[in-house]
Amino acid sequence: MEYLTFTPDGEAARLIASAYPQGAKAYMRSFGCQQNVNDGERIKGVLASMGYMICDSEEEADLIVFNTCAVREHAEQRVLGNIGALKPLKERKRGLMIAICGCMVQQEAVVEKLRKSYPYVDIVFGPNAIDTLPGLIARRLREKKRVLLPPSQRTDIVEALPARRESAFKAFIPIMYGCDNFCSYCIVPYVRGRERSRRPADVLAEFRSLVEQGYRDITLLGQNVNSYGKGLEQPVDFGDLLTMLDAVPGDYRLRFMTSHPKDATPKMIDIIAGSRHISHHLHLPVQSGSDRILREMNRKYTRADYLKLIAYAKEKMPDVSFTSDILVGFPGETEEDFEDTLSLVTEVGYMQLFTFIYSKRSGTRAASLPDPVSYREKTQRIARLKERQEACVKTLLQGLTGTVQRVLVEEKSRFKGRLCGRMDNNCMVEFLPGPNMKNAVGEYQNVRITGFRNSVLLGAAEDLPTK
Ligand code: 5AD
Ligand code: SF4
Repeated sequence: MEYLTFTPDGEAARLIASAYPQGAKAYMRSFGCQQNVNDGERIKGVLASMGYMICDSEEEADLIVFNTCAVREHAEQRVLGNIGALKPLKERKRGLMIAICGCMVQQEAVVEKLRKSYPYVDIVFGPNAIDTLPGLIARRLREKKRVLLPPSQRTDIVEALPARRESAFKAFIPIMYGCDNFCSYCIVPYVRGRERSRRPADVLAEFRSLVEQGYRDITLLGQNVNSYGKGLEQPVDFGDLLTMLDAVPGDYRLRFMTSHPKDATPKMIDIIAGSRHISHHLHLPVQSGSDRILREMNRKYTRADYLKLIAYAKEKMPDVSFTSDILVGFPGETEEDFEDTLSLVTEVGYMQLFTFIYSKRSGTRAASLPDPVSYREKTQRIARLKERQEACVKTLLQGLTGTVQRVLVEEKSRFKGRLCGRMDNNCMVEFLPGPNMKNAVGEYQNVRITGFRNSVLLGAAEDLPTK
């Protein structure tokens, strides 16, 4: 494994400065998962290192970057629609550059489509090429030719990419990239490449620096954080990394996503339970409650394995909360298989579910499976699943009513005068602030839970902010 270090590109910065004497502005929009949000923050960091001012609208920008997602077809259609909508702007504005990056352009067919049908797209680069962006922009300016990189399977890791973080108290740290699991429905291993882990010392240094800057909600990111450490010279696993980070002093919360149930271990749960800072929350995507479907999905665990892990976590951490991803309508999913998913949801008791209708991704194994169930039937199943979840979550929310929780305030609620925040175990609460809470965002606050509306907890601040 090779580790490189990002260095700012002086020549590219000079080219930008002379091409845009009034100052160059860049607009960046990310679609999709947290990994992409984090990549987007790095893209903005790299652009700022070249002298771009980051702006909030496409109209103002001299460079527009769309950081795309390929997980579902719908996400791709949305991006193509958004690229299409840029055409008039490109015709109107001299010097405007359009760059498309992210998972979508790691597929040859998409790059070809952009080449042929979207001639006003100037630059295309994949998620493993963010460090090369200054060079790509410089090339576009110098050569007056489009720079469309083909999908790349780079296997190195670039450290020290600058980041323009969206929040002053919430931050992401990628700990690994790629995925080796090849779940049969999923495009990610094809577009993000093989698993590779950052060195523990690099993760620790970034983590320490965030804690010192006052970040309070830090999330470790990876497609499968539980396989952290494979291939590293130093023999470390994810549990060791958690222990190392948790030892850093400070008043922060540590979270991580995503855990793959096949690799999540009782050891990891023990570490969370005994930690000072790790949130008592597990995002454990189950995808389906049917053993037959789990096998077809190549998930490598059974319903019973999953439920055993959940039971262990509940035993060790009575306040633990669970969230999950569920995929409805995998090819050949029968009514009986689907009912297994419904019963699993009832058994676990999730605080929140992210539910998706299966979307066929070409190149994946599932794409060649017969898929006899109609889309209409699948939408009915997903509606039933949501209904079941809403009923189950009520019991959990009821159980929290009357308790006092330490909440990290995140933002103003859309309901006037209220604030939103997160409990230690990741549950969201909407609450009435106390009289002394004008600048409470990013601070901790004790909140008494008074009830709930739909699936959101409601509460009221208890006197003084906590320390
Ligand atoms: N169709 C629908 N949902 C998918 N996911 C992954 N691949 C697909 C697909 N082809 C969902 C899974 C995963 C989440 C990030 O996206 O539930 O956990
Ligand atoms: Fe996709 Fe499975 Fe890897 Fe998650 S673990 S990114 S679902 S292949």
